[in-house]
Amino acid sequence: MIEKAIELLKAGEIVALPTETVYGLAGDAGNDTAVAKIYAAKGRPSFNPLIVHVYDFAAAEKIGVFSKAAKKFAKKYWPGPLTIVVPKRDKKFAALATAGLDTIAIRVPAHPIMREVLKSGLMLAAPSANISGKLTPTEAKHVAENFPHIYIVEGGKCEVGLESTVITFDEHDNVIVLREGVLQIEDVRGRSRASHQPAERCSIGGPGGPHGEHKKIISPGQLLKHYAPKNPIRINADSPQPNETFIGFGNMKCDFNLSERGSLIEAAANLFSMLHAADALNKPIAVAPIPNEEVGAAINDRLTRSSHK
Ligand code: TXA
Ligand code: MG
Repeated sequence: MIEKAIELLKAGEIVALPTETVYGLAGDAGNDTAVAKIYAAKGRPSFNPLIVHVYDFAAAEKIGVFSKAAKKFAKKYWPGPLTIVVPKRDKKFAALATAGLDTIAIRVPAHPIMREVLKSGLMLAAPSANISGKLTPTEAKHVAENFPHIYIVEGGKCEVGLESTVITFDEHDNVIVLREGVLQIEDVRGRSRASHQPAERCSIGGPGGPHGEHKKIISPGQLLKHYAPKNPIRINADSPQPNETFIGFGNMKCDFNLSERGSLIEAAANLFSMLHAADALNKPIAVAPIPNEEVGAAINDRLTRSSHK
């Protein structure tokens, strides 16, 4: 079962896998087409950046730059239900999974099945394996209800049953909680001197377990700066103005084509890398109309938001 999952993932397919928190809908993070399939399957109306799951800290360091504090948290809590957002090492890596950001959310999960898959070297983008808006899946049968056609590796009931805690660090290397989870990060405001041991301020509690007194939660929306091109974007453009870089869709003449054959999955996979490439030409950008259906809705959401400044 695990070998089959690895085979499918390496071929760019998506697979549901158990983790100790919840079941994840996994795809190769470095393969933007595989990641586009995740967004398409979940029916998310927008591209939220996803967590990239890796086997160990050494693998994490290949894709992320860890500050002193970030490293301490990683060493203390991995493998486990903690996700750490750090600067990306290679800006081009996992363009869609990171929604074009130059930071990346990384987690080393503890579930033996997930670990076995990651041991193959795969780095997996994996949001919870449910259709957007439906309940979070903590058993294989929940996943099957949402996705009857997706390969699921049965791993029993998830021990934690709640998504991982997501943290990042500010410019002074102070920890900031972006999403609360089972791992309680306490007193996040208090640490300002290097002599403090941030990791020791953490404890693991169940849902409703001990909360730190000074916990400060910043909702992802507040901190998460979405990738926005430097140049203005005009959307639903049937043709470009002479000074514009034209991003097309379908069979047409353009500078970059999201998908010549009109595939929304392919367009989603190309979106962020083509936006970056077009932006680098330092001219206004025009984008052809994208059908507002399936993953096209997420593409249009992203484009609409980048066209308002
Ligand atoms: O327990 C879990 O974390 C599960 C299992 C399957 O591992 N996965 C999960 O993934 O919940 P996902 O992709 O649904 O959660 C992503 C969270 C969101 O809150 C998102 O805003 C945040 O991580 N996130 C991802 N990348 C980020 C970034 N670069 N900066 C800030 N927040 C980020
Ligand atoms: Mg979720």
